[in-house]
Amino acid sequence: MATAPNVPHRVAVFREAHFNAAHRLYRPDWSQEQNQAVFGLCNNPNWHGHNYKLIVKVIGPIDPETGYVMDLKVLKDLIAAEVTDRFDHKNLNLDVPDFAGLNPTAENIVVVIYQRLRAALSPSLDLHVRLYETDRNFVEYPAE
Ligand code: NI
Repeated sequence: MATAPNVPHRVAVFREAHFNAAHRLYRPDWSQEQNQAVFGLCNNPNWHGHNYKLIVKVIGPIDPETGYVMDLKVLKDLIAAEVTDRFDHKNLNLDVPDFAGLNPTAENIVVVIYQRLRAALSPSLDLHVRLYETDRNFVEYPAE
C-alpha cells in the first residue's frame, strides 16, 4: 500500500447508540384529512413510538501519539450528552425543544443530531450520522 511518508492514515470510527421516543408527524396548518393522507400511521393523534438506532461515523487521521482517530469513550459520552440523554423515553414533539415547530421525521431528527454532534467535535474530524427509525427505514446526513 503506497502512502506518502508522514501523512497519517485517515480512518473511520463508528459508535452505535439507541433511544426510544414517541412522536407524531403532522402539520398543524393542515386538515386532519391531509395529515392522514401524507403521514398515515405516523399521524396518530395519540402518538406512537420507535426504537431508534443511531450510527455515528467519525473520520480523521490517526493521531500518531495515541493511535486513535478519537477516543470512542469520548464519542460515547458526547452522544449521550447531546442526543440520547435528551431524546430517550421522550415525546419528541412535546419534550424536546429541538422539535418545537419542526416535524420530527427521521430526516429532521438526523439533521438535528448531526448539528448537535458537529458543534461538539473537533473541526479536523468529518462526521456522518445514520439514523434507523425501523430496521428497514433509515436516513443519513450529510447525504454525500
Ligand atoms: Ni413514526
